[in-house]
Amino acid sequence: MERTLIIIKPDAVQRGLTGEILRRFEARGLRIIGMKFIQVSRELAEKHYEVHKERPFFASLVNYIISSPVVVIALEGTNAIAAARKTIGSTKPQEAEAGTIRGDLALEIGRNLVHGSDSVENGQIEVANFFSAAELVSWPRATDPWIFE
Ligand code: RTP
Ligand code: MG
Repeated sequence: MERTLIIIKPDAVQRGLTGEILRRFEARGLRIIGMKFIQVSRELAEKHYEVHKERPFFASLVNYIISSPVVVIALEGTNAIAAARKTIGSTKPQEAEAGTIRGDLALEIGRNLVHGSDSVENGQIEVANFFSAAELVSWPRATDPWIFE
């Protein structure tokens, strides 16, 4: 099973879109294995966005993610990485397809509502960065056989 880290970013929480965004991942069939409401520290934000360290937008990216609380969710599922990113839509909301979270609910790249891991390897790393082993729950969901073949 792949794992992906979803962050419902500060703009989404402030706009009251937490439930709407979570609903879409649940409806897609991904299984929640961890979830919490947190204020991200600057240290954790810099670790999470380390790959973007040399980019001109790094400082604004870190300041954005620590500007207000977020909801972090660990999801599990077959093809969880690709499925979650399709549900999220393109990085630039103006290019995101209608039907995606960003295509339906966002307008600008620096206010694009949600993060999803971009590879199987990064999914494992990012979930471990945000959740301790004790915070992750392995559970047999009653609907699993109706979602996973
Ligand atoms: P995310 O990591 O948030 O799921 O988004 P992503 O994979 O679609 O995009 P990524 O390339 O990883 O960029 C991370 C976040 O940085 C901001 N960004 N700004 N000004 C810019 O050119 C620019 N490019 C990226 C976005 O907020 C993006 O979500
Ligand atoms: Mg990314």
